[in-house]
Amino acid sequence: MQKLKGCIIGAGKQGEVHARTLSEIPYVEVVGICDLNKSRAEELAHKYGIKEVYTDHNEMLAKSDCEFVAIVTPDHLHAQVTIDCANAKKHVLIEKPFATTREDIHAMLEAIERNNVRAMVDLHNRWSPPFSLAKRAIENGDIGEVHSGYIRLNDTKYVATDMLAWSANSSILWFLGSHSLDAITWLVNSRVEKVYSVSREGVLKNLGVDTVDMYQTTLEFENGAIVQMENSWITPNGNTAIIDFKCNVLGAEGMINVNTSSHDLIQITNETKTVTPDILAKPIVEDKMVGFSSNSIRSFIDRLIDGKPFLVSVQEASNTALAIIAILESANTGKAVKVQYEHSLASKG
Ligand SMILES: NC(=O)c1ccc[n+]([C@@H]2O[C@H](COP(=O)([O-])OP(=O)(O)OC[C@H]3O[C@@H](n4cnc5c(N)ncnc54)[C@H](O)[C@@H]3O)[C@@H](O)[C@H]2O)c1
Repeated sequence: MQKLKGCIIGAGKQGEVHARTLSEIPYVEVVGICDLNKSRAEELAHKYGIKEVYTDHNEMLAKSDCEFVAIVTPDHLHAQVTIDCANAKKHVLIEKPFATTREDIHAMLEAIERNNVRAMVDLHNRWSPPFSLAKRAIENGDIGEVHSGYIRLNDTKYVATDMLAWSANSSILWFLGSHSLDAITWLVNSRVEKVYSVSREGVLKNLGVDTVDMYQTTLEFENGAIVQMENSWITPNGNTAIIDFKCNVLGAEGMINVNTSSHDLIQITNETKTVTPDILAKPIVEDKMVGFSSNSIRSFIDRLIDGKPFLVSVQEASNTALAIIAILESANTGKAVKVQYEHSLASKG
């Protein structure tokens, strides 16, 4: 069987999710992996049978005969590698968020379009069964016209203080707000028109991490729907799950509630704590990663092969990033901000 060849840039925690998932697809071969930290790249290469290890992604792009690249660098470092991959004519799977500045978003869209490569952003909650079912119910008209919503996607402090070395270069809005904004935008089926956000800081700064604690944001959509979105990085570490993810969508004839954390499907309790292990994102069943974290990556591969559109278009992902930029501006100025969308480019979803 002719295998689809791919490379990975960024061999961190999420890089391993890509390496593992791709290595479990029989018609894919990961031929190269690159990380500035060579020993980390070597570790994943050894674990997942990847032959070539690099510390310079441009060298990898020049030497490797891969057709696609998974970009799994920190939030603020997606742009240059994406542009270099596009210039090397590689299709790209970019981790969320698409990018964190307007300049980066524009340059990435331009490079993707000019090089005629395909790009998907890993906004993987669209593959999460509760959100997928909610989308279908809304499309079926089960709750009538959507009028409003509430979405909360929070993390425990641990993610900002211990898990991510670069949390001060990002924020809860980029790290998780990109997911919640994409999910609710998908359900509401409209673009965000205007945002008003209030933020608070201090808890994480006192813990030595120079980033904002939380954002409470009102989103007004072009179709008239209004949504309240909460993103916080200061959930107590004793919470039963790392994430706290709740969503409500209210329609003229019904309502949908989603709770993907603190569920009752399995709870494990010891002398000090109860945990509700993840059963949706990346549980291991029969030694394979089976949840929506790997299904989005599998879907990227399937759509590369059959040529059909990706479930998340690059235009939608860049719009989500542009809406987050408006939220940051609103939180900084205390004023409502209209989202400034890019007018052209990148239909290669
Ligand atoms: N889809 C999801 O739900 C999900 C989950 C976790 C993380 N992520 C995203 O994945 C990305 C990576 O997160 P992570 O948790 O793996 O971070 P991480 O810090 O564990 O790993 C990032 C790696 O990228 C490497 N790197 C940085 N610049 C590089 C460059 N120019 N070339 C090669 N390697 C480079 C670093 O050395 C590091 O090993 C982030 O954008 C994050 O938001 C997505």
